Amino acid sequence: MGKFDHKDLLGIGQLSVEDISLILDTAESLKEISTRDIKKVPALRGKSVVNFFYEPSTRTRISFEMAAKRLSADTVSISASGSSLVKGETLKDTARNLQAMNPDIIVLRHSSSGAPHLLAMEVSAGVINAGDGINEHPTQALLDMFTIRERKGRLHDLDVAIIGDISHSRVARSNILGLTKMGARVTVSGPPTMMPVEIEALGATLVSDPVKALKDKDVIMMLRIQLERQNKTLFPTLREYSSFFGLTMRLVREARGDVIIMHPGPLNRGVEITSEVADSPYSVILDQVTNGVAVRMALLYLLIGGSKGDNAD
Ligand code: CP
Repeated sequence: MGKFDHKDLLGIGQLSVEDISLILDTAESLKEISTRDIKKVPALRGKSVVNFFYEPSTRTRISFEMAAKRLSADTVSISASGSSLVKGETLKDTARNLQAMNPDIIVLRHSSSGAPHLLAMEVSAGVINAGDGINEHPTQALLDMFTIRERKGRLHDLDVAIIGDISHSRVARSNILGLTKMGARVTVSGPPTMMPVEIEALGATLVSDPVKALKDKDVIMMLRIQLERQNKTLFPTLREYSSFFGLTMRLVREARGDVIIMHPGPLNRGVEITSEVADSPYSVILDQVTNGVAVRMALLYLLIGGSKGDNAD
């Protein structure tokens, strides 16, 4: 196994092609554990993982918890409303207090971009970014790349379209960084009011017309409109948004015949994607969730277990 020489996982930008391949290969070998009758191996016995979620989450929070437990780590979960944040404690003081209890990993989701980076400077524990504001969601991009590689056999030389609210999407940002690094071509499409001006500097190609953007694509990744991050409405009505950018079967037919449809969740059925598409054979949305556990197991293992030469089996 290669060497993963990082204390934290804060963003896809910090990872090399070799790092990403190592994470995906490790996840591939660990995925089988979740299919066993007894879904547990001792690889991280005696290690502790704190899941600190300042924002709501279903998939990422449960996935990290399951991943840690399947590797026999001890886990503690706290939310903003159940922490002393509501009494005015700062993130820095919270970090110092968590560090005083000597966890091995802190998984942080936060509404402010850069919060995990601040935490990582304060603690000697490893920090994993579980989504920070509109910045990055690196573990989502890794599980997305795992799912694409599993289905298509490779990442290089694939054509991927990412459609929707690009400017508020940490998922889009992490995926553009990761997929282009791994040799895929990424096209983005969405309303001009939801498109960052510097999008092409990230390595993506902007095609405003979604019909043209989907032409001959191997992968379509749909995004949720991040209404909670918009301080004003950036389109006239949901119905109008949906009529332009919502993924219907008619639009799917613009892509390649073996296209896969992805969505990080949660879905807004009937807005960015119809139920007919979300539940179709093209959809790998629930595979993404399954693969999220394997990818997070791999990360925990590589960050706090793998370097010690432990055997994950
Ligand atoms: N994809 C994702 O981050 O989902 P959650 O917000 O439910 O964790």
